[in-house]
Amino acid sequence: MHYPYQLKSFEAYQAAYEKSVQDPETFWAEIAEHFLWKKKWDKVLEWNFKEPRVKWFQGGKLNITENCLDRHQAALGDQPALIWEPNDPEAGHRILTYGELLFKVMQFANVLRNNGVKKGDRVCIYMGMIPELAIAILACARIGAIHSVIFAGFSAQSIADRIQDAQASMVITSDGAYRGNKIIPLKAVVDDAMVGCPSVKNIIVYTHTRLPVSMIKGRDLWWEDEIRKVEKQGNPFLQAEEMDAEDLLFILYTSGSTGKPKGVVHTCAGYMVWANYSFVNVFQYQPGQVHFCTADAGWITGHSYIIYGPLSAGATTLMFEGIPTYPDAGRFWEIIQKFGVDILYTAPTAIRSLMGFGEGPVHGKKMDSLKVLGTVGEPINSEAWHWYDQHIGKHQCPIVDTWWQTETGGVMISNLAGVTPSKPTYATYPLPGVQPLLVDEHGREIEGNGVSGNLCIRFPWPGMLRTTYGDHERCRQAYFSTYADLYFTGDGCLRDEEGMYRITGRVDDVLNVSGHRIGTAEVENAINMHSGVVESAVVGYPHDIKGQGIYAFVIFNGFHENESLTRQDVLQTVTRVIGAIAKPDKIQFVAGLPKTRSGKIMRRILRKIAEGETTNLGDTSTLLDPGVVEAIMEGRIS
Ligand code: WTA
Repeated sequence: MHYPYQLKSFEAYQAAYEKSVQDPETFWAEIAEHFLWKKKWDKVLEWNFKEPRVKWFQGGKLNITENCLDRHQAALGDQPALIWEPNDPEAGHRILTYGELLFKVMQFANVLRNNGVKKGDRVCIYMGMIPELAIAILACARIGAIHSVIFAGFSAQSIADRIQDAQASMVITSDGAYRGNKIIPLKAVVDDAMVGCPSVKNIIVYTHTRLPVSMIKGRDLWWEDEIRKVEKQGNPFLQAEEMDAEDLLFILYTSGSTGKPKGVVHTCAGYMVWANYSFVNVFQYQPGQVHFCTADAGWITGHSYIIYGPLSAGATTLMFEGIPTYPDAGRFWEIIQKFGVDILYTAPTAIRSLMGFGEGPVHGKKMDSLKVLGTVGEPINSEAWHWYDQHIGKHQCPIVDTWWQTETGGVMISNLAGVTPSKPTYATYPLPGVQPLLVDEHGREIEGNGVSGNLCIRFPWPGMLRTTYGDHERCRQAYFSTYADLYFTGDGCLRDEEGMYRITGRVDDVLNVSGHRIGTAEVENAINMHSGVVESAVVGYPHDIKGQGIYAFVIFNGFHENESLTRQDVLQTVTRVIGAIAKPDKIQFVAGLPKTRSGKIMRRILRKIAEGETTNLGDTSTLLDPGVVEAIMEGRIS
């Protein structure tokens, strides 16, 4: 495969950018020509940000799996599409060629059809990082079912919330998942979730760990049995469903500043073009290279840069089941050596945690195959950037600092590896098609360079979210109502003298813990579910490895036996309600919370206390009871 739209010089980037702003429709139409369509579009773009209503490539018909699989068969049929490295380094890796992957996707698409799944049905996928996760995702896309992947660290309650919201009729899971030296009982968690999920007709269970599981007659099916049925039926060939450009491809739930997670919706054509275009340009992928994205496929990064971006480009994508520190902190480097990885894409959290082990685990690993390094998910600090550059890239690999969001579908602001200039800790310049601007709190644009403000986008790009599932008004409220006619990202940002962007972090009540988005309101709701909790307030604080840690201030009614056990109880409650990733790092029991006379919690003050500020708490004169603050400061957990 070659990529005529791959930008190979700074000048080419500048020209493309210019064109994407001057004449976006022609610009994107020319790129879309390079994909496989069952029918070309009638209209490239129709939009307004008021409703919002955004439609790309209207009238076009396609199936994303034909673009990811079928169209590569002639040239790449026997080339590796997916390399899988298991958690246990001794367990033996798997390689699926483009031919094998297409075959398995069609087989499993038949399984879905045999069990009554139709175009438009929602299918929930709760699996660890195994090839069958990619197969399940692609099989859904093949028949036009809408996948909703749930990260395997989420609790039964979180699964149930997402299933109910989407009214999913099928769940695909496995008996268990390996993570480091742990086995996670995935099927058992799904079973717990089922109590409140009458929409689910079937659960398909893949055998991976052979952890004993309950199998309920009429509802639960073994993946392997269902595949055997398809084999008996004969030819598994399955024509890809014809999808409209704007038909739903998937839902992915993500945290916002209020209430329960929202189901971000992406549609078929725009998302495909965006995932592919950004993959090919940001990483400057060359045919034959091995691309290793360490994210979990349960997050958007895995969707776009393990599955859809690389596969649509005919790339070899590497999927790793385990964690960076198992069996030791050299595991990533071991994998790079083993498979001759060309591109490594990971999160600052992982870099910071591996930095903590020193250079020892890197020593002696042959990593000269590496050509490009990438980071995503949170601001990267200068120390981690330089460690990555020196010890992993050996000063030979450009680092792409890619800023984007679940809602944006793919990378929005990033340097293009080795092609456009880079600057440590800066995402730098927007991709063609992305028109960022900074605004002040009144929504006035802040022009010029050397300024900072809230990051917004003024024009649609093909990969943007279209709605939040089942609640369009929520989408409008969350992203398009803060500032008129702009998409608001929720991020603070500065623009330097050369017009390069540096994202500084969320300006709303969303935390970024180890690159995972967690709403403070969600954590508070979970804490408040503990029977002894009266009220709570959650804020973030700087954390050396996780980027942000979670600090909870909790008013509690009578400890059960003692304070420290009660603290454990609260943590258990959060784990039950959301999942272990949302567990507070610190819980301080307090007698009262700082509130205004109208009863609003003053988080600004709590944030300062959590950050360790002891003197300058800002204006506290509007507090109902200023004495509360002193008591909280005294009991602060350092
Ligand atoms: C943050 C992950 C700084 C940001 C793809 C954004 C970043 C949120 C960067 C989205 C980066 C992501 N530099 N901050 N390179 N990339 N973020 O939806 O706050 O899980 O709003 O998408 O992560 O997180 P999400």
